Amino acid sequence: MNIKWDAEKYTSDFAFVHQYGHHAAELIDAREGCTVLDLGCGNGALSKALQEKGFLVTGIDASKELLHIAKTNYPEITFIQADAADFSLSHPVDVVFSNAVFHWIDKTCHPAMLQCVNRALKENGQFVFEFGGYGNNRMIHEALTEAFQQCHYQYQNPFYFPTIGEYSALLEQAGFQVRFAVLFDRMTELKGEDGLKEWIKMFIKSPFSVVKNKAEQEEIIETTVAKLQDSLYRDGKWYADYVRLQMKVIKNDR
Ligand code: BEZ
Repeated sequence: MNIKWDAEKYTSDFAFVHQYGHHAAELIDAREGCTVLDLGCGNGALSKALQEKGFLVTGIDASKELLHIAKTNYPEITFIQADAADFSLSHPVDVVFSNAVFHWIDKTCHPAMLQCVNRALKENGQFVFEFGGYGNNRMIHEALTEAFQQCHYQYQNPFYFPTIGEYSALLEQAGFQVRFAVLFDRMTELKGEDGLKEWIKMFIKSPFSVVKNKAEQEEIIETTVAKLQDSLYRDGKWYADYVRLQMKVIKNDR
């Protein structure tokens, strides 16, 4: 999915995206000096955290805007602009890591992406990742579906949120052994009184391309937020109903 990010806002108001990524990074079992590819590195915040653990890090991302922030903030790290489903490295790495990226990649492109990751890894290399799993943001997508319908549009959920079983099968076909997999709820606090509205504006972009004008887009967002007031607004704070899929897999021996 090719998205033009508001990179400054993403970095300032949605820092929880990379902050939660530290948990997934803890699944990496490698010594200092090992090479790590941060696939979909975004603003580079997790690439920096991985470097601080003593790894030799390269970041890849498709977004020019986010890479600009990454390169400005962390000039000592190598960042490359490339598509996650169409990249190659000159030297294979010990670990490929990814946080909060794969749900953006169309389901049909995952086999190609997993082939790229497999080729980028050394034998027995680790592939550690987290992204939105089955049921992710179910309440938000259901409310959007209803709000779109009320305005006579159809909501197309653009994301891929697989189960453990479905994704394990893809991984095995691509030459990996699954060592760890967990699907869990993570109710996530959003920033500010307009937290959910801002979340929708930041992350739900392509479904709104069918909506004719700005006023209708605003109406759909307002209706969605109103529908979720009882379920996702608690004690003066907005939450998003995240479900995460975390996995650690190993590249098979040949
Ligand atoms: C996620 O990190 O799970 C996610 C974020 C925005 C939109 C969809 C999913």
